[in-house]
Amino acid sequence: MLEKTFENIKRLVVRHNQGHLLAFWEHLDAAQRRDLLAQIAGLDFSQVDDWVSNYVKNPVSAILPGDFGPAPCYSLEPPDGDMARKYAEARRLGEEMISAGKVAGFVVAGGQGTRLGFDGPKGDFPISPVKNKTLFRIFAETVAAVSKRYQTVCPWYIMTSPLNHSETQEVFRSNDYYGLDEGDVFIFQQGTLPNFSFDGKILLADKGKISCSPDGHGGSLKALYKSGAVADMTRRGVELISYWQVDNPLVNVFDPLFVGLHVLDEAEMSSKALIKAEPREKIGNFCLVDGKVTVIEYSDLPDELAEKRNPDGSLVFELGSIAIHIINRSFVERLNREGFSLPLHRAVKKIPHIDAEGRFFEPAEPNGIKLESFVFDALPLASKSIILETKRSEEFAPVKNSMGVDSAESAREMMVARAAAWLESAGVAVPRKQDGSADCLIEIAPSFALERDNVRAKVDQIPEIKAGDKLYLG
Ligand code: UD1
Repeated sequence: MLEKTFENIKRLVVRHNQGHLLAFWEHLDAAQRRDLLAQIAGLDFSQVDDWVSNYVKNPVSAILPGDFGPAPCYSLEPPDGDMARKYAEARRLGEEMISAGKVAGFVVAGGQGTRLGFDGPKGDFPISPVKNKTLFRIFAETVAAVSKRYQTVCPWYIMTSPLNHSETQEVFRSNDYYGLDEGDVFIFQQGTLPNFSFDGKILLADKGKISCSPDGHGGSLKALYKSGAVADMTRRGVELISYWQVDNPLVNVFDPLFVGLHVLDEAEMSSKALIKAEPREKIGNFCLVDGKVTVIEYSDLPDELAEKRNPDGSLVFELGSIAIHIINRSFVERLNREGFSLPLHRAVKKIPHIDAEGRFFEPAEPNGIKLESFVFDALPLASKSIILETKRSEEFAPVKNSMGVDSAESAREMMVARAAAWLESAGVAVPRKQDGSADCLIEIAPSFALERDNVRAKVDQIPEIKAGDKLYLG
């Protein structure tokens, strides 16, 4: 039986120029052989051929659409009375949806966090300025606070990858799910894609193991469906998925205004945007291509377009993507039922593997290609998609690097800065240094305030703050 399968699989891999995958067959025991055959059978070789010719061997970046312009966006503040009424109605509707348990939280946490130099799931990285709470704890406390405030249960879905799945499960277990009900936390794995050498050969991690990497956050749209997360949502009556990245401790996880505008406009997948800090800021650009909201990566937007300005001095392509979305559950179902694929993006990486003699090779220089799909590439597949502007200081403090820009240090500073601004807007005096930054550490727990306006009702609980204080409001 194994022999027959072996012969079939051998013909298949040879036909697709991947015969080397079976080069060490004679060295494998029966279990390893079965496992390798299953790994190979799990690959769609017509796709493999396509990947090799279109992505692996072709170093050209994505082809830009012929004609495109900036995408429209709901601004931070409503510009006129009509819009003010729409925002108020949206907020009310968003609150209604959250209260009815129709909105689930969803964090993508399958990445490796290599740049941060942190060994372990990134969600376990300690970040809060006073209590040193981890990213996962902050999100969990937010989910709990939202559930309490809206007297509902907000389920929370967490996507991991084979790189960190069991570690993530263990982190949740050892922290007692941060006080959440285990049954309302759904941890599932994303898929993987094979890694390639520059000449289009699938790399082997070991004699009986194909070298694979997580398939990118775009893989979430398949994994949500395949893992049973979508079925779980259906059972609970969840209609909307609030999507965010594990590296952003400031994210407003359940934003009623965003939810409400998305629903009022009958959108299928929507996004939050920032006004870019500078023309070439390394975030995706929201554009309109054939009437569809589309993200064009910063690396693909030509300089003259990135720098182009309107008569009032603002950038023509000013809206940057910060990976915060509302996605309809029915959109994920539709894509999966219809069968869909997102474009792949290639990344040149150092990929450890075994060579033709079976010796382990740890490259010092990039030696191969990893392929990934990006979730924002699903935006043009949505029947309708809206964008809501948000403020960097309120909602975006990515923890990506060990130092400098987008580091743990900059994120902590931004967490303190936001907390100080929230307190001041409720009339609380915050000591400030000469450079204007807060001369104290402040941490506001989600249980104390989820939004700026929540602080006002609790000012009597806030002590006087002196320079150098460490204040935790929980
Ligand atoms: C990403 C976005 C960028 C956005 C920025 C905001 C891309 C290509 N770019 O950049 O447009 O402005 O975030 O911070 O995505 N992840 C998985 N599985 C994977 C890969 C990633 O779950 O296979 C998760 C990570 O855990 C993380 C998130 O996706 O939560 C982002 O991954 P990362 O590779 O750090 O994105 P960036 O390149 O920094």
